Amino acid sequence: MSAVGKDNSARYSAVAITLHWLIAALVMSNIVLGIWMHDAIDVAASRGLAVGAYQLHKSLGLSILALSILRLVWRLGHRPPALPGGMKRLQRRLATAVHLSFYLLMIGVPLTGWLFVSTQWRGDVPLNVDTVWFDRITVPHLFNLHQQSADVRQQAAATFADIHAALALSMALLVVLHVGAALLHQLHARDQLLVRVLFNLSAMQPKRRRNAHWLGFLLTALVLVCSAYYGSSVFRSTTATPDLAAVQVTSEETGWQVNPSASSIRFAGEHAETRFSGRFLRWHIDAQLYPNNINASRLSVDIETGSARDGNPLHDRTLPEPEWFDTRRFPFAYYRTTSMVQTGNRQYTLMGTLDIKGNVIPIDGLTLLLGDNQALISGDLVIDRARVDMGMQSDPSGTWVSPKIRVSIAVQLQRPQD
Ligand code: HEM
Repeated sequence: MSAVGKDNSARYSAVAITLHWLIAALVMSNIVLGIWMHDAIDVAASRGLAVGAYQLHKSLGLSILALSILRLVWRLGHRPPALPGGMKRLQRRLATAVHLSFYLLMIGVPLTGWLFVSTQWRGDVPLNVDTVWFDRITVPHLFNLHQQSADVRQQAAATFADIHAALALSMALLVVLHVGAALLHQLHARDQLLVRVLFNLSAMQPKRRRNAHWLGFLLTALVLVCSAYYGSSVFRSTTATPDLAAVQVTSEETGWQVNPSASSIRFAGEHAETRFSGRFLRWHIDAQLYPNNINASRLSVDIETGSARDGNPLHDRTLPEPEWFDTRRFPFAYYRTTSMVQTGNRQYTLMGTLDIKGNVIPIDGLTLLLGDNQALISGDLVIDRARVDMGMQSDPSGTWVSPKIRVSIAVQLQRPQD
């Protein structure tokens, strides 16, 4: 066997080494993130950022779970290299115990975190927050815990949160022990134990070594770019406004046509102390407007509830759910005028109703300016979400989402001159 082969036999395989450092980096990042967000979510100034940090923590944690299972499967099929001959029996036993504990924690910590968020409960309050892996894949709640009774959820949440924190902190202690022992071996015993988890670049052919350097460089760059992109998207998602290009509005009757570029139905409020603002991308208006016969005039607007977007992936996924718009049962919200009261030259105040999820509320503040071939409907409303049954299970008191949602309407209509 060549010198290269001999040297490699004292090391872990390339797959095991890669997984070791990847999991180590993710675990340490997630411990720091977990400790920070746990307090930051309760402080108004950092709450908005902490909401994004929770999603990142859950995504990293679930990635650690998947990689750890992969690592375990790999380990069962590939014997690790023998420990250095000079190690005492007690040291060997300790090393085996630490490794075993790591495997248990690498699986136990993320699993208890997952069980905790599956209860959809924290402290005294129920939650309605999906776990969405890196804003891409919605992760199911385990064992339908979120559908259990309030008592069961609350107790299970407290238990899993405690176990998760205790295991995570044990893991942090074990990391310190593990790193300390590895350094002692390297610097004091000088038995090259640390070398077992390093790539043996010096034994490689020059061409392969160059390739390995490039690969390392590219992987580091990729990780940095992805982290920067994701990190900035966490921040952007708390302040983003939606893509306006998708607006679709129509009006069929009486020749009135909507001018889409000057028309919008917007909403705004606060979530976790952070302002959000969005709009409905699709709605349909039936404008029966007769400048010479206001008593016969009326307006109907059907707003597609599933088209509400504010650019924050968490909000955009949550809004269609049963406790918010319940878009499956109520795909539309309906605005109808009941009367139009003249308040000035060609100016009218609109009296009407808005029906959201079968809850009908009066809407009396909109203004209509009605010319022969131009009409403008505008106004700002404040909707009490309790009155239209929005978010009343997870946030009835408005701790997270502001109880009042502001709605701004601007609709420009025109029709060809006779
Ligand atoms: C190896 C992976 C993980 C590590 C090292 C880790 C570590 C931590 C740490 C240190 C804390 C702070 C505990 C405290 O101070 O009370 C924490 C909190 C938390 N973790 Fe993890 N975690 C991991 C995986 C996960 C996963 C997979 C989930 C969910 C899918 C999760 C959900 C949470 C939640 C929701 C909290 C906040 C608890 C609260 O605010 O009450 N974690 N985690």
